[in-house]
Amino acid sequence: MKKLYAFILVGILWLAFATACSENKAGNEAKATDTTAATEQKDTASCSMETTIKDPNNAKPMALMMRQMADDAQAMRDLILSGKPVTEAKFPFNRFYLVEPTDTNVLEPQFFENARLFQVAYKEMMAHPKDQKAHYNAYIAKCVSCHESYCSGPLRRIRKLPIEG
Ligand code: HEC
Repeated sequence: MKKLYAFILVGILWLAFATACSENKAGNEAKATDTTAATEQKDTASCSMETTIKDPNNAKPMALMMRQMADDAQAMRDLILSGKPVTEAKFPFNRFYLVEPTDTNVLEPQFFENARLFQVAYKEMMAHPKDQKAHYNAYIAKCVSCHESYCSGPLRRIRKLPIEG
């Protein structure tokens, strides 16, 4: 009997150790995702859980446009921070709401309303080349508000886009 208890105890200890170890590994991976490539991978993965992408290499047109929009937003941020204007010529509006999404269930009235408000924010930003920081932040806030309802995976990345201060 004593032997059995000892065996169970060792088993529990081993499990506790293994769990702690894998949690630690997850933590390190989370830290490593700060580099863009890794973040992109992670975004795709978490978004796909919600929108049921089966194959991340076979992304739908809306997902591809979103990747472009995220890269553009990062480039806009850099320009504004260096005091240069963001123009429509350089960053044409992506009409993502017209192309095929991974999950067609997103194509409902609230989604299109979010897209409309997002486009209004885009035009406002382009109409104010002298005062773009606030308008850029308002534009990014529209990414966030749609993503809160439709695809929360990329929020971690999008929330890094506003310009502080
Ligand atoms: C009107 C809603 C809406 C707005 C506005 C919006 N998104 Fe998205 N976004 C989505 C949806 C829905 C998906 C999932 C697309 C798919 O998988 O086909 C997505 C996907 C993404 C992805 C993941 C793409 C991938 O690799 O699978 C990123 C990154 C992203 N959006 C960033 C942004 C950024 C940055 C903005 C603002 C500049 C933005 N989104 C504005 C709805 C929106």
